[in-house]
Amino acid sequence: MTKWTPSSWRSLPSKHIPDDYPDSNKLAEVETALKGHPPLVFAGEARRLKSRLADVANGKAFLLQGGDCAESFKEFHPDNLRDMFRVMMQMAVVLTYGAGKPVVKVGRIAGQFGKPRSSPVEERNGIILPSYRGDNINGMAFDEKSRTPNPKRLLKAYGQSAATLNLLRAFSTGGYANLRNIHKWTLGFASQSKQTNRYKVLCDKISEAMDFMEACGVTPESTPQMAATDYYTSHEGLLLGYEEAMTRIDSTTGRWYDTSAHMLWIGNRTRQLDHAHVEFMRGIENPVAIKIGEDLEADDLIKLIDKLNPENEAGKITLIARYGHTKVKKHLPELARAVKTSGRHVVWSCDPMHGNTIKTATGYKTRPVDNILSEVKSFMQVLHSENCWPGGVHFEMTGQNVTECLGGSARVVREEDLSSRYHTHCDPRLNADQALELAFLIAEELGSYKKDSVTKLAV
Ligand code: PEP
Ligand code: CO
Repeated sequence: MTKWTPSSWRSLPSKHIPDDYPDSNKLAEVETALKGHPPLVFAGEARRLKSRLADVANGKAFLLQGGDCAESFKEFHPDNLRDMFRVMMQMAVVLTYGAGKPVVKVGRIAGQFGKPRSSPVEERNGIILPSYRGDNINGMAFDEKSRTPNPKRLLKAYGQSAATLNLLRAFSTGGYANLRNIHKWTLGFASQSKQTNRYKVLCDKISEAMDFMEACGVTPESTPQMAATDYYTSHEGLLLGYEEAMTRIDSTTGRWYDTSAHMLWIGNRTRQLDHAHVEFMRGIENPVAIKIGEDLEADDLIKLIDKLNPENEAGKITLIARYGHTKVKKHLPELARAVKTSGRHVVWSCDPMHGNTIKTATGYKTRPVDNILSEVKSFMQVLHSENCWPGGVHFEMTGQNVTECLGGSARVVREEDLSSRYHTHCDPRLNADQALELAFLIAEELGSYKKDSVTKLAV
């Protein structure tokens, strides 16, 4: 293999990196400026996440990864960040309780801007313009100026990511995430819903247990894990120029870390073995995830894992399966078997969003919650029956009361409701009720495996 450098990806073919900036010197100037900007995360934090993910790979923890399909400049608001953070905290409570295992929380946040698009252009009324590719590249408005890539957007995305991360750190460690606050994480708009009532019942049980522990001397003051939480960030490492600029040598280990996020993932459309994205990701020490869909054969998956993780370090690789509810049972068993028999250490996670997108007659891109639920369930059952740990989930979700995905048992979103609060800048997201409903379903499924293993032990 040739020598890796942060820029060695540049000599290889790549997909979905825009090459139509009007002035490539201006792009290079911005990238140079970014190289002088402070890191957004520290290498030690990425190492800590890797060791938490190693616990997931070993079946000792569960990964909850979620957030917007695409962050946007327009939707940037502290209330939106708070609502996202607290719905993830609620989900983590439900999952921890159900699975009886710690939950590793990773946001699709503080850098999730650039999007691979199915078509490079969009046509409206006979006018053809470049597709919208995310706020760090171009604008959503359908006019030539907005759709022309502008490198200054990278600086704005960096600034927004830094401010986002700052608030997330404050929420995580400043008192908001104290377990004594679990009742307060309920979202205002969801206060009467069925999921929220289920959540309240659970909180009462946990609070009772905490009262008991407190009587025994275990309090948030004496036990820091109860007073604060770890919250990590991730995004698709799509714009390699930006990722390269954020990649720095860690002074304690002498190794390269991409300091734009704790964890990066390679999209389903950019995971070619000999292309730029895999080349870039093989040289960084951060945990890396790979989205995998139906066109990936078991042999190629093993090659991909080996290129990215030649030392077979647990926690380095997360495989995010995204097949669609009708296909997961067909494709996943063979891959799970190949990974298991070859002894590669991975986290298995399920993205039940990207294989379940449909378009309504009125032109809305949506996803039926029933199909999302069904894919998660099938994913877990397949892995469980292959003796692998169904270690995590990856959701596109928001803490807002949006109407983007169809169904849900708390407040059903019907086709005619989609238009009322359809705010996404890219793909449809679960709203807070729908996301919590999924957390309960997963907790139930994981809980049944817990009983299984107790039964197995008893036998
Ligand atoms: C995404 O996660 O937004 C995405 C584009 O997914 P995938 O690469 O799996 O299609
Ligand atoms: Co998406």
